[in-house]
Amino acid sequence: MKRVFSGVQPTGNIHIGNYLGAFKQFVELQNENECVYCIVDMHSITVPQDPAELKNNTLNVAAIYMATGIDPKKSILFVQSEVKEHAELAWILMCNSYTGELSRMTQFKDKSKGSESAPAGLFTYPILMAADILLYDTDMVPVGNDQKQHIELCRDIAIRVNNKLSGTFVIPDGRYLKEGARVMSLDEPDKKMSKSAENELSRISLLDDENKIKKAIMRATTDSEGTVRFDIKEKPGISNLLTIYSAFSGVPIKTLEKKYEGRGYGEFKKDLVEITVDALRPIRERFNEIRNSQELPDALEEGADKARAIAEKTMKRVKGNFGLGV
Ligand code: AMP
Ligand code: TRP
Repeated sequence: MKRVFSGVQPTGNIHIGNYLGAFKQFVELQNENECVYCIVDMHSITVPQDPAELKNNTLNVAAIYMATGIDPKKSILFVQSEVKEHAELAWILMCNSYTGELSRMTQFKDKSKGSESAPAGLFTYPILMAADILLYDTDMVPVGNDQKQHIELCRDIAIRVNNKLSGTFVIPDGRYLKEGARVMSLDEPDKKMSKSAENELSRISLLDDENKIKKAIMRATTDSEGTVRFDIKEKPGISNLLTIYSAFSGVPIKTLEKKYEGRGYGEFKKDLVEITVDALRPIRERFNEIRNSQELPDALEEGADKARAIAEKTMKRVKGNFGLGV
């Protein structure tokens, strides 16, 4: 069995892009692997957070993991800050990373915009991520393509350490999600659907009700041609809606194009509303069931205990190899 690790930040607005691009695949992986799924709250404080909101979002995301099908008996589900070894290993890795390689990270460049007052944590963010991964002797990291640079950095650091102190880390592989799983914004289909976009109608959040889903889809940007055809370049709006339709229904895009031949966008969108509402209903229902029940804190406590047991073992080996402690 392979050890799988992935993390999601506890920010609000988890949307169908996150679901199709990440959660759905996390669920599929848990049957054949030993999966460790983490809500990375320490990563989210690299930018200012309201404390009450952060706590609420952490529990929401944990409940979303469970509502989408992560079984805390099969997988380890936990909150990053509950296992202090993440921060401990991050420090050791920081001492084995170069400022040059960190300054080349595009996410840092985007988020800091060259500002002198960017938090140092934003700069070292990828090292905390490397610590998350290496702490669990991870074989495989399922993530979006946007994380490729961070995964490569993690591998570089691990290989660098192993060259000096052999056998310290397991070298992980990234498992990148297919382009087809990339969901674009509903109002500006040349941009990725995102948690932070101003316009609420640019995304469908996993917990949106039927009215919001309907409004967002019916108003989604299309084009003036009027044929339901997949063509990312010329028809990014309809292509995105086809991607979503196909992902939720399991029907190939080619088949959908045939089905809607000679029919307008209105009809296609109406059907997509139904498909989406049906796909999200059980998730929303399960979420409401879990979110305020004792099941949630119990699962997270059990998850943190299991994670800690692995993390402590790894740290013992790592510290021993580095000559740290007595
Ligand atoms: P985030 O915390 O928003 O960076 O995303 C968490 C996970 O969802 C990552 O693995 C992302 O690659 C994936 N993800 C985020 N946005 C999208 C999107 N629009 N389409 C597909 N996957 C996405
Ligand atoms: N940086 C990742 C993101 O923004 C989240 C993350 C943190 C992560 N630690 C991780 C992903 C470890 C995979 C493995 O999506």
